[in-house]
Amino acid sequence: MDSETLLRYDPTQSLGLVPAAAMGTACAKAILLGEHAVVYGHPAIAVPFSGVRATAVVRPGTPGSGIVVVAQDLDAARFDRAHDDEGGRGLLLAARNAAAAVLRAAQEPDVEITLQSAIPLARGMGSSAAVSAAITRAVVAFLGGHLALEEVSRLVYAADAHYHGTPSGVDNTVVSFERPVWFERGRAPVFLSVGATLHLVMADTGAPSRTRDTVGHVRAERERDPARSDALLGEIGALVRLAREQLASGDVHGLGESMSANHALLGALGVSTPALDTLVVAAREAGALGAKLAGGGGGGCIVALTEREAADGVCRALERAGAVACYETELERDGHE
Ligand code: MEV
Repeated sequence: MDSETLLRYDPTQSLGLVPAAAMGTACAKAILLGEHAVVYGHPAIAVPFSGVRATAVVRPGTPGSGIVVVAQDLDAARFDRAHDDEGGRGLLLAARNAAAAVLRAAQEPDVEITLQSAIPLARGMGSSAAVSAAITRAVVAFLGGHLALEEVSRLVYAADAHYHGTPSGVDNTVVSFERPVWFERGRAPVFLSVGATLHLVMADTGAPSRTRDTVGHVRAERERDPARSDALLGEIGALVRLAREQLASGDVHGLGESMSANHALLGALGVSTPALDTLVVAAREAGALGAKLAGGGGGGCIVALTEREAADGVCRALERAGAVACYETELERDGHE
């Protein structure tokens, strides 16, 4: 269920029923393989990290207020027409675009949106896409509309572009559809089936991952030495193709090895850090089948693939190695969590 509308009786309304509140929620994501290479037309495989989520609740606002977003995890910061700093602008944009998609009118509805997210900001877990998707779903439900998932994904892309420049589209796709996805820039996503239940751990270095900066770094390196960069990006693309087969056949050992090989290539592209490398080594020493940085890099999280019984031990080892937080989720065999 992506959203839910709570109805209450309001005697002032001739229709009798008005929404008192509507809720939308969206998951975090993990890129299993292919980040950065996906920007240059190679494929990426991304999966929902459904245990960690963002939730938005929309309630009627005061008349004339327009859209107000209260971000509980940013010390209940309030963003509205008059206070739309860098962080708040993307949130307001998501809400405005969702309202415009339903109402097809220029006028903003008077609503207050309360946002709560367990997804750490700027850590490669898709926080910006998830909060935009949660807001989009909540606003659409509140206004009594319905959007196809493709449309939700398109709106989330527009809000994500505010934070990341010209993202490839992988984040909004996996977060909006909440399914494992094979993503190639400019093409319709292909939803992947998963041949074995995957146990995934994400661990946070505590340092921000500024995707815009690391994407810019890869671009600059590619301009400096195109042959080297294109060879590395091509090797990542080949690994992603191999991983698709490993995922489908349930070869978790092979998939883990592909993930670790992907990490080495991301390191060679210059987007890893000593803290990310430390966590990748710690995960593997603790028995993970494979591990790599996840998302933009330059900080943020690693993702490790483990056996079911090893997941907790891998998490504890990652915390001992310096992770500030560790998250676990399971991706079930049929492709849905
Ligand atoms: C960020 O989650 C993934 C990157 O490949 C950027 C993008 O795809 O837009 C680094």
